[in-house]
Amino acid sequence: MLEKLKGKIAPIFIGVFLLAGVYVMFKNNDGSNPTASAQIVSVKVPELSEKAEQGKILFDESCAACHGVDTGGTDVGPSFMLSTYNPGHHADEAFYRAAQFGVISHHWPFGNMPAITTVNRKDVEKIIRYVRELQVANGIATEEHVM
Ligand code: HEC
Repeated sequence: MLEKLKGKIAPIFIGVFLLAGVYVMFKNNDGSNPTASAQIVSVKVPELSEKAEQGKILFDESCAACHGVDTGGTDVGPSFMLSTYNPGHHADEAFYRAAQFGVISHHWPFGNMPAITTVNRKDVEKIIRYVRELQVANGIATEEHVM
């Protein structure tokens, strides 16, 4: 009788352990991870200049998959509406270099950014204009770079 009961209870225990394991695995993917997901920003979109409008189209094609629609960030890349990306810390040259050579991960836990071969320097110039106009509208002002 006891033996029979053990046989029935054991699978239930195993099941509970498996469920607990799955819960623990997914718990940190539901937005509670403070490092990666906290970086998603809700962005105020101002009226854009013509050049920035062109930049937006290019950004949506080549950058938004990681940096987010309206540069708000995703769970695979940072938003540019963070003071980290104010022009004093990431000057325009950082954008040209990022697109041309890619970026070795150094600010976030997302991993490296690959070089983006679908844009040239003129395209990136428009993307920068777009990002900077959004930054102005979202209070990301130039801060002196102290590091
Ligand atoms: C496949 C994902 C991905 C795409 C596509 C992508 N990026 Fe990135 N980018 C990243 C990640 C991830 C980082 C953050 C790296 C770090 O610092 O940890 C980053 C960082 C940057 C930085 C900061 C560079 C620095 O010096 O810290 C700039 C600027 C940038 N990206 C511009 C762009 C532009 C412009 C495009 C489109 C032409 C683009 N990215 C497309 C993933 C991407």
